[in-house]
Amino acid sequence: VVVDRGNYRHFMQKEIIEQPEVVAHTLAYYLDLANGAPKQIDSAIDFASISRLSISACGTAYYAGLIGKYWFERYARLPVDIDIASEFRYREMPLDKGDAALFISQSGETADTLASLRYCKGEGLTIGAVVNVRESTIAREADTIFPILAGPEIGVASTKAFTCQLASLASLTVHAAKARATLSDEAIAEMVHDLMELPRLMTEALKVEQEIVGLSRDLAHASDVLYLGRDTAFPLAMEGALKLKEISYIHAEGYAAGELKHGPIALIDEDLPVIVIAPFDAVYEKTVSNMQEVAARGGKIILITDVRGAAASSVDTLKTIVMPDVPNFIAPIIYALPIQLLAYHTAVFMGTDVDQPRNLAKSVTVE
Ligand code: G6P
Repeated sequence: VVVDRGNYRHFMQKEIIEQPEVVAHTLAYYLDLANGAPKQIDSAIDFASISRLSISACGTAYYAGLIGKYWFERYARLPVDIDIASEFRYREMPLDKGDAALFISQSGETADTLASLRYCKGEGLTIGAVVNVRESTIAREADTIFPILAGPEIGVASTKAFTCQLASLASLTVHAAKARATLSDEAIAEMVHDLMELPRLMTEALKVEQEIVGLSRDLAHASDVLYLGRDTAFPLAMEGALKLKEISYIHAEGYAAGELKHGPIALIDEDLPVIVIAPFDAVYEKTVSNMQEVAARGGKIILITDVRGAAASSVDTLKTIVMPDVPNFIAPIIYALPIQLLAYHTAVFMGTDVDQPRNLAKSVTVE
């Protein structure tokens, strides 16, 4: 397949902008909007009968899996173990034959993820592959393919594959909640409705791009950046830090906001930008107190929140980026966008090779 960059400066930029459209395809595969219910899909995994789901992946796909854990556990009451594939394959964890394992991989060729899949297969688990490339080795060796339908991703730093992985995992959560009867049909219909609003809300969220360009000009001077979040914004904080490292080469760390006082608070000074990802949710107030701790030490805060969050926070920030108000369930898919734009534009200011960052490969097929 020959993919054209069109009028975009980089594939990464094109792939960021096309997310509302590709996520709509992903959702249409899994969900029936007209009836507000999951669609009949091909699945060897019986979510009703398993007692645990093991997820393994690498890089960005691992962070998607971490967010999936919050969803499967919260809505489908399905316990999830999640590991970085290179750890899982040697960890000798106890596994039960009747359970299932998910392997998340854009390329479907990552060596460690494939090795973990083979290990679980050997242990007799049912294998699901959440992949973009349906002809890949991981897809072929799985019992079931859960396609993410992102279309070819060229930029080495993953963007649209991440949000499509999230859209697939969110949809599978709806399937699991239905199968396990953990939510009423009305609650399930509401989740489907929330997901179907994503393309519109993502388009809305992308409108902050120009504001982010201004912010990126400042961020390009930083030598370290700290990302903080709670709940599903915690894995997103780690993904944000990964994105920035990958393409701008600025050192960054993602931390659970509640862990601030257990270490990273020692780093806070006026030179350290702290990016706080905080939708207005049940833990918002907790995150606000973490921001106060940062502000009291002269830290520069960049807050990414929504309209309600911006109105509720009294903390002085360097900049507040305002997302539309969205249901908590889908928030990570919306907040992924400003995080990607921030990394992208910072890298553009640094003049790095955005689509082909040094030392990185799109797919790592060796251990
Ligand atoms: C490489 C890429 C990352 C990707 C990771 C996992 O490190 O640079 O963008 O997240 O591999 O790749 P996969 O194809 O398994 O999702």
